[in-house]
Amino acid sequence: MFTSIAPRYDLLNHVLSCNVDRLWWRKTARSFISVLKQPEARVLDLCCGTGDMTFALRRQAGKAEPTILGVDFSHAMLRRAYAKSAGKSLRWIEADALNLPFPDGQFDLITAAFGFRNLANYDSGLREIARLLRPNGECGILDFGEPRGLMGKFYRLYFKHVLPAVGTVISGVKGPYAYLPVSVERFPSPQEMLGRMRRAGFREVSWTPYSFGIAGLYRGKK
Ligand SMILES: C[S@@+](CC[C@H](N)C(=O)[O-])C[C@H]1O[C@@H](n2cnc3c(N)ncnc32)[C@H](O)[C@@H]1O
Repeated sequence: MFTSIAPRYDLLNHVLSCNVDRLWWRKTARSFISVLKQPEARVLDLCCGTGDMTFALRRQAGKAEPTILGVDFSHAMLRRAYAKSAGKSLRWIEADALNLPFPDGQFDLITAAFGFRNLANYDSGLREIARLLRPNGECGILDFGEPRGLMGKFYRLYFKHVLPAVGTVISGVKGPYAYLPVSVERFPSPQEMLGRMRRAGFREVSWTPYSFGIAGLYRGKK
């Protein structure tokens, strides 16, 4: 599914979010600045797609130049990330987030932007992240939420009707943009997600809503 929308993925992201996506990636990267400023840090961006979260991490790191890897299982998405990353010291790896080719305790920070929600098993995904983190390592999962109140009503109208229609026309593929609202509905509530994170071995778990809860950042420490 992601491979089929790869050619228009960036354009659609920016159009459908009115460019707010850039703000969310930047805000997420900024919240991990203390890790990113350590030159010896090892950072993994899961479900990196065409790499925009990964680039935001690189920008926040500035001159520190920690090791930053982007992982995705869609070859087409990674090719775009690679093409966009000329001159930036980033590495791209094709792998499944549920079965990653790294030994235990390798990373200081693991992020996932708008990708974790798509995993076939959330608990396995969280356990895999916990396995790869060093003690005190941090995880940040940025994903969509469901805003409440009047804002929520307008948003649902947009998300369930306007977004799938525009997404289908621009991508030329029927399906993926209808799947998006369904996957958000299926995603656990913040309360449930935090409970799952605790059970997977994370402490100091928190959820910070972005833009009235349209998106939000889950954080946890190993
Ligand atoms: C909505 S895109 C998000 C891309 C990027 N992180 C961003 O913020 O634009 C979700 C990405 O997750 C990837 N993905 C979904 N399930 C995956 C899995 N099990 N392992 C690796 N990548 C996965 C898809 O291939 C896709 O590129």
